[in-house]
This record gives sequence, structure tokens and C-alpha cells, in this order.
Amino acid sequence: MNAQALIDTARALVADDKGLLAMDESNSTCNKRFAAAGIAQTEETRRAYRELLMTTPGLGESISGAILYDETIRQQKQDGTPFAKVLNDAGILPGIKVDIGAKDLAGHPGETITEGLDGLRIRLQEYFQMGARFAKWRAVLTIGEGIPSRSCIEANAHALARYAALCQEAGMVPVVEPEVVMDGDHTLERCCVVTEEVLRTVFNQLNSQRVLPEGMILKPNMVLPGLTCPTQASVDEVADTTMKSLWRTVPAAVPGIAFLSGGQSAELASARLNTMNHRFKMQLPWALAFSFARAIQQPAVEIWRGEEVNVRAAQQALLHRARPPLQIGETCLQLLLGTAHLRAIGGRRPLGLGELAL
Ligand code: 13P
Repeated sequence: MNAQALIDTARALVADDKGLLAMDESNSTCNKRFAAAGIAQTEETRRAYRELLMTTPGLGESISGAILYDETIRQQKQDGTPFAKVLNDAGILPGIKVDIGAKDLAGHPGETITEGLDGLRIRLQEYFQMGARFAKWRAVLTIGEGIPSRSCIEANAHALARYAALCQEAGMVPVVEPEVVMDGDHTLERCCVVTEEVLRTVFNQLNSQRVLPEGMILKPNMVLPGLTCPTQASVDEVADTTMKSLWRTVPAAVPGIAFLSGGQSAELASARLNTMNHRFKMQLPWALAFSFARAIQQPAVEIWRGEEVNVRAAQQALLHRARPPLQIGETCLQLLLGTAHLRAIGGRRPLGLGELAL
């Protein structure tokens, strides 16, 4: 394992306020989104859509890496250029989703285990040859009556750690994604407790599988109340609670945290991330970034609708979401003007982590 190469890649993925574009929807998920937007569900429309995304002019200024799906990494631009080369030429590192999905966990109704470890060493070698320099694996944890169970958390954390160790062996940075999903009526506090338990277990397993924390990225959920919880939380409450949970559980050696959007609206996902950066960035050991799929792509897919004539407008919408003006604007303002000016223009003073109500 070349530890320095892993560390350099992991740092590059979260450098300069950039984030990841998750464009690794499986064929069935991609088809579902196409069906909702009235787009034909074929290999060619999926290819054309992915070409639209990665040829967006200027995308590399806000996106450091793009996560591809197995079908996509084997595809080419219309002119025959392999997609991995298209990304590299745009200054974007190619990545690959390597899990094969969440399946029912035997004996655990309502819970899943993510599969894909069989043959993974060989698949990683092939993806590396094709140009991938990082990989993603998503575990899914659902909150409900009596769940997630301890055994589901442990099984998923163990699989994540086995995957991460294999990635590092292959020279690829693992993006470790334990997602506590938003479905349900649970409270913000319950999500906080579950997220902390999941992250603690995941880092225990990563440690016991000898995963180098400096050579990985964590892709967690934000801490949120369930979608049908009668009490929803403000942007500040989400930012504070999420930071508190991560501060307690994520080792300082991890270079970056890239949030998933998980079905939040594009605007809310950006606002919550921006608030975390705005209020805590200066005191955090890790960079805070995004690895959004829906929160970046949704407007683009709705504008495109499978029509060539809409490509430019869809690309502009994508760029707009990938480059949240608030995040960049406020970070720059904070650096240039200091916190008093931010307060004067209505921003909230950056809090010390010690000031969070624990
Ligand atoms: P969302 O941002 O749509 O949650 O997707 C992120 C992702 O990569 C899920 O694995």
C-alpha cells in the first residue's frame, strides 16, 4: 500500500472547498429518476446523461471527484473518449461505486446488509486500471421501532471496514458511507443517538481492519429529524447537532467529511452544509464537503428531459448547484472581513465547539 498516495488523493478530494458529484446511481435507480422526468430508460440515455454531467464547462472548479457506476466507467463520450479520461481532463478524479446494494438482513425484518465483498479485490484492480482512484460503499441504517439493531449496525460496519481495507490495498481511497436514512417519524435527538452509535462502531471496525484514517473520506448523513416527525429542526439546529455528533465520533486524522444529501431538497442540503462551514470551519480538524447526488442533479435532470436542445440549460443548473454561492461567498467573507462583519450583515457568529449545548 502506498500510504502517501492515498493521503494525497484523500486530501485532494476535499481541497479548496470542492466536493464530490455522486453520479453512481445504479441502472434501476437512474431509470426511476428518468421515468419521473419522462425520459426514456435505455443504456444510451443513461450514457448521454452522464456525458452531459461530466462535460459541463467549469465543473472541475467546484467538483474534485465524480463517483461512477460500473456501466458508466465502461462508457465513452460520443466521440469515443472514455469517461474516466473525460473526467481526468476536466481536473476531476474518477471514482467508482463498488457495493452491489443493500439486501434484506436475514432474521432482521426491516433491516439491510450491503453486499459486494465477494470478488472485490479483483474488481478493484480492474477499476484502478480503468483510472478510478477512489471508491464508495453505502450501508443503510433505518430508524424505527427497535431498529437499527446492534447486530445490523455491527454487520454493516464490519462490511464497510473490509471494503475500506481492500480499497487501500488496491491504492484507492475508500469513501465510507454509513447512511442513517431520513424515513420515519423519529426525532432529531433519536437520529443523533443512532448516528453516533453507528459512527463509533464504524470507526472501531475500521481501526480493527487496519484502515489508514488519513487515507479515507467519511460520507455520513446529516443529523435530521425523520421526514414525518411533527417537529422539524431549523438549519442552525441541524448544523449544531450534526457537528456535535461528528466531533464526538470521527477521528481528527480523517482528512474530510463529504455529506450525502439523502433526499433533502437541494436548497436545504446546501444551506445546512453552508451553516456548518460558516460556523465551525475554522475549528474543525477535517474539511467539510458534499458528496451529493440528488441535491446536485435533480434540477439538471428535470431541465434536460432527454432533449439535446436542453443540454446547456441543464449544465448551467448543475453548475449552480455544485457551486452553492452561499458557501463560497460566506467562507470568503469570513476570511476577508472577520466575524464582526458577518454579524453586521446578518450572519451568525461562528460558534466555538465548546459552546455547543452537549
Ligand atoms: P444522495 O445525495 O442523493 O443521498 O446520494 C448520495 C449517494 O451517493 C447515495 O449513496
